[in-house]
Amino acid sequence: MDYFALKDGVLHAEDVPLWRIAEEVGTPVYVYSRATLERHARVFNEALKPIERKLIAFAVKSNPNLAVLKIMQREGFGADVVSGGELVRALAAGIAPEMIVFSGVGKTRSELELGLEKGIGQFNIESREEGRELAELAEARGIRAPACLRINPDVDAGTHEKISTGKAENKFGIPLMRAREVYAELAQLEGLDLRGVAVHIGSQLGDLEPLETAFAKLGKLIADLRAAGHAITHVDLGGGLGVPYKAGEVFPSPAEYGAMVSRATRDWDVHLTFEPGRVIAGNAGVLLTRVVRVKRGGNGPPFVIVDAAMNDLARPALYGAWHDFVAVKPTGEYMTANIVGPICETGDTFARDRHCDALQSGDLAVFRTAGAYGATMASSYNSRGFVAEVLVDGDRFAVVADRIAAQAIMDAERVPEWLE
Ligand code: LLP
Repeated sequence: MDYFALKDGVLHAEDVPLWRIAEEVGTPVYVYSRATLERHARVFNEALKPIERKLIAFAVKSNPNLAVLKIMQREGFGADVVSGGELVRALAAGIAPEMIVFSGVGKTRSELELGLEKGIGQFNIESREEGRELAELAEARGIRAPACLRINPDVDAGTHEKISTGKAENKFGIPLMRAREVYAELAQLEGLDLRGVAVHIGSQLGDLEPLETAFAKLGKLIADLRAAGHAITHVDLGGGLGVPYKAGEVFPSPAEYGAMVSRATRDWDVHLTFEPGRVIAGNAGVLLTRVVRVKRGGNGPPFVIVDAAMNDLARPALYGAWHDFVAVKPTGEYMTANIVGPICETGDTFARDRHCDALQSGDLAVFRTAGAYGATMASSYNSRGFVAEVLVDGDRFAVVADRIAAQAIMDAERVPEWLE
């Protein structure tokens, strides 16, 4: 459930009509709803209530905006980060270092050092090589790095191939077959406090079964590791729960996910970490855009050309993802259209043959479910600058990320004098 709804025929974010934001901040602009973010955080928390020892670490990659992270911090969430940049953001939002988990397959030496220096709660080690390097850096500081070993369970998550992470051919984690051997080696290192295992099989999962299968494999591994004398006290179950992108789609609820987790981990006797991203932020944001013009006269349906493009919201171009597209002031009339941005490639298409609200030049509309993997995946392609972000709270709103103009990006560039 989210707080983007029609009131008196006008689409609102909570109590703010979206045209007001367009007027004051311009378009395209991402609009987030505080009440929705809080609701999703609470529903997720509630679903995991029976699990006593746990950390819910918001996947910063899904929406790293500082104001969003602040809301997560206020809800008692930690952070799952995958770069030095995300780590600094989580700290800046006031998230305690011990509630930060550092994931990611290619942490650099300086990123590992930063994590150690800040005293983060957990490193999820992705390879034997990374484990050795982390141990060496920690030992040089006279400390032990708290860590889990990320396992690749070779499970097909049944999601888009580009966001599947738990198949044997994916770059993530240690293959299950080699897990015992690598664990044994790393557990001996003085610089590591290796205390468990981690898994994350993919994102936008529409079915709990692959997760349950992965957790079952992990359970077996935990038993084996314990039998070999290792004290397994922490397990990280990653994120991945999907959300509906089309009105009417049904996804497993956080409550169903929570029940499955309780079942799958019943005998584990460990502290559990969760890394939800999309399920918290996805439906808490929209991308508000204005129709530049409607181009008719081709063979197919008209092109509704909007001022947002694939550089602002990359998911349709990258994954063929669907985002519901609705008018801010629907007239009750409908059309079938191709929804496209102004960028000079055909990939800049948000939807083909889409049955949607009838729109004309100048009208406002939104792409829904853009709160996760939206603004954060933006680029400045076609010298378009970076979109602004707005947070709504009841009847007020604030710009929580300024628009970065194409000029500002150009100002950071130089022509060397030998080209003058
Ligand atoms: N933990 C790890 C280690 C991850 O790699 C991810 C996402 C998450 C947690 C959060 O997953 P979530 O709960 O949000 O599904 N850009 C893509 C999604 C990439 C997800 C990458 N990893 C998209 O727009 O669909």
